[in-house]
Amino acid sequence: MANRRPKISIVGAGFVGSTCAHWAASKELGDVVLIDINGDAAKGKALDLFEASPVEGFDSNVLGGSDYELTKDSDVVVITAGLPRKPGMSRDDLLATNSKIVKECAQNVAKYSPNCVLIIVSNPLDAMCHVAMSATGFPRERVIGMAGVLDSARFRSFVAMECNVSVEDVQGFTLGGHGDTMVPMPRYCSVGGIPLTQLISKERIDSIVDRARKGGAEIVELLKTGSAYYAPAASAIQMVEAIVRDKKRILPCAVYLKGEYGVNDLFCGVLAKLGANGLEAVPLLEMNAEEKDMFGKSAAAVKGLVEDMKRLGLN
Ligand code: 2OP
Repeated sequence: MANRRPKISIVGAGFVGSTCAHWAASKELGDVVLIDINGDAAKGKALDLFEASPVEGFDSNVLGGSDYELTKDSDVVVITAGLPRKPGMSRDDLLATNSKIVKECAQNVAKYSPNCVLIIVSNPLDAMCHVAMSATGFPRERVIGMAGVLDSARFRSFVAMECNVSVEDVQGFTLGGHGDTMVPMPRYCSVGGIPLTQLISKERIDSIVDRARKGGAEIVELLKTGSAYYAPAASAIQMVEAIVRDKKRILPCAVYLKGEYGVNDLFCGVLAKLGANGLEAVPLLEMNAEEKDMFGKSAAAVKGLVEDMKRLGLN
């Protein structure tokens, strides 16, 4: 990493993008650039956030606009651009519109920051990771999708509610694609180190798993005009932090698999080690037959979307 503050650019200054900028700046992860086709809105949000810095006491330059030159030499770029879901829509319904947007954004990012690590947030997430990878030609170490941290955060929140304990004491993760087939892993979930399966009944676990799977839709139904942003942005910034601070964190992320878990040439959610080089390793965990089956089905659903994109000439 360069001998200066890390530079973090965020593409898309909607709710997710501007909330990412907020977390990144307030955690002093580096200088922040906010890009949007509506350059004035990005500039205004960036200026507003910078004007909060004397009050909150963070040192982070925050700039905004529509010109990708502002993003030059970023260390990490988060792509949030694209349409959100409306009530009743699935993430997959966004395929055609968002693939065009993500392709253009990723090409512009690569032009000015050929060495950055890209974090993709736009939906349908796993498919958009494929678009970003082919648009940039970046290796898998530098194209990583944000989904697992968010889905796991929802799962952990619901476990904490159910057990009436601090969220800090709930560990757990979900794997697979960021869609209805995602694979929460209650067998690996623990509360203060105690396996969840020893604490609550299978029925309660099943209902938490179901709520986590539908967690994004639950927020869409309530907001009516957009989708979730606090938890998605916090999740993306946890990944940014792991990279710019070289934390070597093990986080569930969408990663381009090259044979891990029997899956080839496909983005899918797995545990990943994130550090200064982006994706640094894919530590493997043991799945039982049922988990393997669910993971396989989830990977097949992602593969179906990737094939749809090819068929429609979208990627
Ligand atoms: C969600 O799950 C937006 O996909 C995101 O809320």
